[in-house]
Formats: sequence, C-alpha cells, structure tokens
Amino acid sequence: MPIDQAPIRRILVTGVGANPGFGLTRSLQRLGHKVIATDANPLAPGLLLPDTLPWVTPRADDPDYPTAIAELCHELAVDAVVAGIENDVPPLVAMLPELAAIDVRLWLPDAESVRVCIDKTEFHDVLTAHGIETPRTYRPQEIDQVAEGTELVVKPRRGQGAQGVHFCQTREHARVLCELVPDALVQERVHGQEFTADCLVDRTGRASVILRRRDLVKAGLSAVSTTFHDPTVRARVEQTLTAVRAAGLSCVQGFITAQGTVTITELNVRIAGGFALAEAAGADLVGQMVNGLFGQPVDHDRLTYHPAKTSPTTSRPWPSATPPRSP
Ligand SMILES: Nc1ncnc2c1ncn2[C@@H]1O[C@H](COP(=O)(O)OP(=O)(O)O)[C@@H](O)[C@H]1O
Ligand SMILES: [Mg+2]
Repeated sequence: MPIDQAPIRRILVTGVGANPGFGLTRSLQRLGHKVIATDANPLAPGLLLPDTLPWVTPRADDPDYPTAIAELCHELAVDAVVAGIENDVPPLVAMLPELAAIDVRLWLPDAESVRVCIDKTEFHDVLTAHGIETPRTYRPQEIDQVAEGTELVVKPRRGQGAQGVHFCQTREHARVLCELVPDALVQERVHGQEFTADCLVDRTGRASVILRRRDLVKAGLSAVSTTFHDPTVRARVEQTLTAVRAAGLSCVQGFITAQGTVTITELNVRIAGGFALAEAAGADLVGQMVNGLFGQPVDHDRLTYHPAKTSPTTSRPWPSATPPRSP
C-alpha cells in the first residue's frame, strides 16, 4: 500500500434507503472502503447499490436492533458503523461500549446531546439558553401564549424529512393541527433564505462548516442548493454546534431573514441529504469524517470549499463548475 493511501475500512452504513445513507455509501465506496449497506426496509434503493454487502436489519425501535447490529458487526468484521438516519442514533449511542468491546468504531455526540438534537422543543430550549436565535417555540398547552396574528408552523417534536409539517395563521388552526400531528410543537413561522450547513466537529471541538443555500426544497430535502460563504452564518452555526456539544458529522439548518437575522431551526445528528454538493465544491467531508472516526486528525484545510457551486441533490459527484444548460 502506498504510504499516502488511507487503509481500506469495512464500514456499516444504516438507512441506505434515504439520501443521506445512500450518498454516504457512494462516497465511502469512492474512497475505496467496503460498505455493509443496511436498512430496515427490504425495498431500500441503497440495498441494490453494486459492490456493497446489503443487509436488512430490524427497525431502530425494535428490541432486537442492538443484537442484530452487534451480530452483523461481529460476523462481517465491521470496523465502524455510521448512521444514515437519525432514528438509528440513540440505540447506537447506547451500544457504544458493546461495539467498542468488539473493536467497532462509532463517532457520535453523547446520549444527552443526541436527545436534545432529536427533540425540537428541547433544541429550542438549549439554543435559547445559549442566546442563539431560533424561532419561538410553544408546547401545545402553551398556544394561548402565542400573539394573535403570528404565522405558525405545527410539526412533530421528533419529526424528519418535513413529514407532518403544517403552516397556519391562527391559534385555532394550530390547536386542531396539534390534535392531528403526533407529539406536536408550535413554532413561529420564519421567512427568508433557508440554508443547510454540512458540519464536521473534530475531537478537539474544532468545526468545519460548509454553507449551502437551499434554492429549491422538495419534501424537506433541498433539491437544488448553492454553496456560499458568510461569516455571520458560520459563526451562528459554530455557536450551535458548541451549545449542543456536537461531535463528528452533523447538519444544521436555519434561515437568513430579510432583516439579515440568522435563525437556527434544527440540527440533524447525521450527514445531510444534499452533502454531495459540499464534496463537489471541494470539501472532503466523508474522507475527513473517516479520519476522525478512526482517531486520526481531521485535516480542516481539506474541508474548505468554493462558493457559488450549484447542484441538484445527487449522490453522484457534480462533474464540473458549469451549471446545467437551459434547453
Ligand atoms: N419555523 C419555521 N419557519 C418556516 N419554515 C419552517 C419552520 N420550521 C420548519 N419549516 C420548514 O419545514 C421544513 C422541515 O422542518 P424542520 O424543522 O427542518 O424539520 P424536519 O426536517 O426534521 O422534518 C424546513 O426545512 C422548512 O422549510
Ligand atoms: Mg429539516
């Protein structure tokens, strides 16, 4: 093996049916790693990716999940596990000692940090306590505190992929929506430019942040995005990462309002669905994550990126800087 070539790892990726896990698998393969591609749904598209070892696992909330993952790691000589969907993160965090005992690496924040990031009400409370701008958020029993005339969003506290997100204009409608949306929260609606930050926090707490403007959002995923630099947004994202004690890969979402305020809406404890653009813009996101995962230094110089790169969300690398031609 040449001296500058990274060792080939056997990495188990969960949730390969959705964009983050699917894209992660492709990136790891491009880096030369062997991927054990898993999903709870036998129809998950990522299970059909060539050159992987595809496995159907129980769902994260199934009591058999930890045993199934541990056995898979043992039998397939897995070196590390990376979660492609957030549901898998809490059981994996709980398995940390068990996996470490069989020499399987995980790179995740502590269990309390994970709990706060997955619960949007808790996340709001932590950000507010740290003085970080985030939309005003109310529990269903607090709807009376909402000022009349406020535009509102009702969404699940632990939702994902924009499922169950509803916009409304009145407290009465918000009350009804709270009956329909499971474990709902009510949030003031923000208008402005939505962004995603692809983040990698190394073991010293240093973060690299790749900012993407969400030009077109479809079903909660940014279908088209453009990289940009903005020191204020970057600083707000870094404060957020520190406030929740983020570690390893994550993505932060927020808005830049017409008044120029940066407000943070959520942090996902996993790679973003649209991260391929960060890599196309020059950031070695997955390569540096693998370094950190195996206790090697993260090279932040390799996480810089070109602004104004536009791409559809795709797990293929964007071939060039040339934007798609109009017909
Ligand atoms: N307070 C808000 N103001 C405006 N839009 C919002 C707000 N909260 C959520 N949205 C919209 O709904 C989408 C999904 O909400 P989000 O909080 O990111 O939850 P998740 O992605 O976990 O389902 C966001 O990307 C955004 O477009
Ligand atoms: Mg989101």
